Amino acid sequence: MELPFAESFKIKMVEPLKRSTREEREKWIKEAKYNLFNLRSDQVFIDLLTDSGTGAMSDRQWGAIMTGDESYAGASSYFNMKNAIKNILGFDYFMPTHQGRAAENVLFSVLVKEGDFVPGNSHFDTTKGHIEFRKAHAVDCTIDEAADTELYHPFKGNVDPVKLDNFLKDHKDKVPFVIVTITNNTAGGQPVSMANLKKVREICSKYGKILVFDSARFAENAYFIKVREEGYANKTIKEIVKEMMSYADAMTMSSKKDAIVNMGGFIAMRSYELWRECSTFNIMFEGFVTYGGMSGRDMNALAVGLDEGTEFDYLETRIKQVEYLGNRLKEFGIPFQYPAGGHAIFIDANKVLPNIPKEELRAQTLAVELYVEAGIRGVEIGTLLADRDPDTHENRYPKLELLRLAIPRRVYTNNHMDVVAVALKNVFDRRTQITKGLKIVWEAPIMRHFTVEMERA
Ligand SMILES: Cc1ncc(COP(=O)(O)O)c(C=O)c1O
Repeated sequence: MELPFAESFKIKMVEPLKRSTREEREKWIKEAKYNLFNLRSDQVFIDLLTDSGTGAMSDRQWGAIMTGDESYAGASSYFNMKNAIKNILGFDYFMPTHQGRAAENVLFSVLVKEGDFVPGNSHFDTTKGHIEFRKAHAVDCTIDEAADTELYHPFKGNVDPVKLDNFLKDHKDKVPFVIVTITNNTAGGQPVSMANLKKVREICSKYGKILVFDSARFAENAYFIKVREEGYANKTIKEIVKEMMSYADAMTMSSKKDAIVNMGGFIAMRSYELWRECSTFNIMFEGFVTYGGMSGRDMNALAVGLDEGTEFDYLETRIKQVEYLGNRLKEFGIPFQYPAGGHAIFIDANKVLPNIPKEELRAQTLAVELYVEAGIRGVEIGTLLADRDPDTHENRYPKLELLRLAIPRRVYTNNHMDVVAVALKNVFDRRTQITKGLKIVWEAPIMRHFTVEMERA
């Protein structure tokens, strides 16, 4: 008999979870103005709000924390991080930042000017925020297949090379760089193929443009290349990562994902000139260039995390857990972005709650229903996240209205995934009775989803 699959780790430290009643959750979500970011963590049973900074560090990482060097300048921890970035990602220059959006802030302070266009594949919200904050525009060139949640495509995160080329042909003077997000979070944690990265590189070179990778989940992307793309099955994850990164001029990194730390980020680049230009902004916004908002101990843990995060056994355990949840939902007929992404399952709220008018926030309504059902916290990736158009101030209704269930790394067991699947089934079974959504009563002018306040419509 074939042995079943089991996790490639064992558990050394645990943290209790609190259960609650439906009545308590009804009260708490109302007090939270139907915004799940406003809940206290002890009001949540299974927290799938994000996989960002919520992973469990390994014993090796905790060991590295104890030897962190907290010198203001030139700390050994900085050099540990530098070596890991050079060895694993291949970049000569880098600077730490406190998280991914800080890396975007520093790099875009150098590169983005008012009126610019930045093409890419479904820019993440902070990326788009930092572009639009500078009165520039994010241009989405993702392949059309990404918008069809039922369609199988092995690399649904890909850039459409024809869209990109056409855009650059017409607007090249206003494009400072192209950004490719690996994996493509907004389209459902979907990977980008090596062939696509190579093609985008060729297009960038043809027009003389810098290519930046938003690399938060680069290792999960490499796993999908290994298991889905021809020619990569026998390569190690580290070999695949090296090739992926060879196509980029620079990368921004939220280390809270694939470097498995609770806080941290960086920018890495090939050009010393670009490093120099960024260093001024890094010093202004983040801190001196050898710590940039990170403590020495966290830089040490990050260096180890980059190594562990690019090991096949770890990635296989991680991605198979996401797939496990996807398979359970499939069994129940619940529609989600298919195939399952690397870090999360994205439920298609347009298909679950079509009776709710889109103005009443279908995905957010589904998120609230799931929380009330079982204390599970997901996050809306839909109309709230899309913000208003900065010019017309009208709501933007994206093609996909999704409830994202992001799985923290090395934190929950498959028993928790079973609870999530059954809770969703219960909501799904009573979906026709859910006819009213939510309405916004207060919102911030940019990145409103974090602080928006709502009531039942
Ligand atoms: C693709 C992507 N880019 C950038 C970021 C921003 O990173 P951070 O949350 O560390 O600021 C995130 C965070 O979720 C992300 O998923």
